[in-house]
Amino acid sequence: MPNAIVYASKHGATAEVARRIAAHLNGRARLFALDDTVPDLSSFTTVVLGTAVYAGQPMKAMKEFCGSAPLSGKRLSLFVCGMEQDPAKRDAELAAAFPEQLRAGAIATAFLPGCYRFSKMNMAERFIVKRIAKTSGDIDAIDDSAIAKFAAALS
Ligand SMILES: Cc1cc2nc3c(=O)[nH]c(=O)nc-3n(C[C@H](O)[C@H](O)[C@H](O)COP(=O)(O)O)c2cc1C
Repeated sequence: MPNAIVYASKHGATAEVARRIAAHLNGRARLFALDDTVPDLSSFTTVVLGTAVYAGQPMKAMKEFCGSAPLSGKRLSLFVCGMEQDPAKRDAELAAAFPEQLRAGAIATAFLPGCYRFSKMNMAERFIVKRIAKTSGDIDAIDDSAIAKFAAALS
């Protein structure tokens, strides 16, 4: 039975992390972007949920999906994709992203670093990142060993 990887990404980094998780599962994964369509997960027992984080919060689509999708009985793994460095804040972002009952039953949870890509940001986002992260250049922090460790917990 393949795994389902359901993700919410705004600028593409979470999508890239999701693809890399799938690669570590040797193709035994189907990817679902949470954009217009809500995936039917009835044929999957193992489900990975991943969301980008903006201003400490998950993507709205993931929040809504967690509130409405029939996830009970699934083997769940959860990740957030962001650029926060502080471990306590990373934990807080995971807690904000997924309801307590999903986190409590998850077989793996992880903060997986993403990217800053200025060409994808609007003016307000560029301003915020320049001020908070003190960079005006792209940063790719995607961590393949962290992704491999997360994927290994699924098998
Ligand atoms: C305006 C803005 C605000 C952000 N706020 C946070 C944040 O609060 N915490 C965090 O960990 N990362 C934050 N990030 C970093 C994003 O989570 C990171 O770029 C992530 O890889 C985006 O994923 P996506 O490309 O799939 O949308 C922020 C990025 C931008 C542009």
